[in-house]
Amino acid sequence: MFARTALRTLRPQARLFSSSAPARTKVAVLGAGGGIGQPLSLLLKVEPLVTQLSLYDIRGAPGVAADVGHIDTASTVRGYTADQLDQALDGAKVVVIPAGVPRKPGMTRDDLFNTNASIVRDLAQAVARVAPEAHLLIISNPVNSTVPIVAETLSKAGVFDPRRLFGVTTLDVVRAARFLSEISGQDPTATPVTVVGGHSGVTIVPLLSQSNFGKSVTGEGWSKLVHRIQYGGDEVVAAKDGAGSATLSMAYAATVFTNALLRALAGEEGVVLPTFVKSPLYESEGVDFFSSNVELGPEGVKKIFPIGQVSEEEQKLIEACLPELKKNIEKGKAFVSA
Ligand code: NAI
Repeated sequence: MFARTALRTLRPQARLFSSSAPARTKVAVLGAGGGIGQPLSLLLKVEPLVTQLSLYDIRGAPGVAADVGHIDTASTVRGYTADQLDQALDGAKVVVIPAGVPRKPGMTRDDLFNTNASIVRDLAQAVARVAPEAHLLIISNPVNSTVPIVAETLSKAGVFDPRRLFGVTTLDVVRAARFLSEISGQDPTATPVTVVGGHSGVTIVPLLSQSNFGKSVTGEGWSKLVHRIQYGGDEVVAAKDGAGSATLSMAYAATVFTNALLRALAGEEGVVLPTFVKSPLYESEGVDFFSSNVELGPEGVKKIFPIGQVSEEEQKLIEACLPELKKNIEKGKAFVSA
């Protein structure tokens, strides 16, 4: 299901599932001038379900807007400067947030907390004020903490709807499919993997036992593949040698997720993919945000699927994930209540 989503994203035309006139769907990108923001703006300009693209950054967004605005697709594009956040958000149905600093070699995602927490909180405050009904897609790291930060900020403003807040973990899913395809020799569209938990190190839990090709990877091969999925981001950080983290593959992944959400908002049924949301699955253990397969619908989150049957090894991965995730979530919440 997921693999088909990925393919359809990059086709020039997409089906609209609404029987009425095509909805006007304004998508705002906050952080559009950055390493992720620029290619993401490009991909969203060629995404047929986007009718208006609103590009905001504290620097560089008007330039990106002028550039992608010349692409001959139907959507309109506007860039906004640092003092025009409210205009950028006005009427937005979907807001994608890749604003904030990326990792350098040797850094964990949690090392970004001090800088990115306040950036994300401030942007969420503006969304609460100007576009309280928008669906919010959080890319800025550490996602395990920034999503709870946004939830708390929206709650404080009295506008939090858990159906409309998503941590984008799609890159982990994209990487898992790709890395498994390299082992199995299949096309990656044939090797989708459900990845649950959170978005950093041990909190990333690939459920290979649920995958047709993944279940035959065992022993040391399994351990190596799991490690590669959990720490694949480090390969990019090391190769970029101080120039940042994944940007191009991340822009692709964010477009896959945005496309899935837009299709569901337009009425398409059966859109399911993993995303980090407010979740009841491990709430009793103090983990109230968790990524698992989620069915998207016209209001956002429609159904949260349990993780299903897992192997003994995967159960151990989940046990390692939960305490770390709990810490990350609490850190995010504490930041807002401080
Ligand atoms: P970058 O530094 O290239 O771009 C970030 C952009 O955010 C810059 O253009 C900057 O001007 C802008 N910005 C900073 N403060 C802002 C504010 N208050 N309002 C609007 N824009 C603001 O960084 P890059 O590589 O694009 O990464 C962005 C974030 O995405 C990082 O936190 C990174 O860790 C995260 N990331 C998340 C992934 C995921 O899977 N969820 C994967 C890769 C990166």
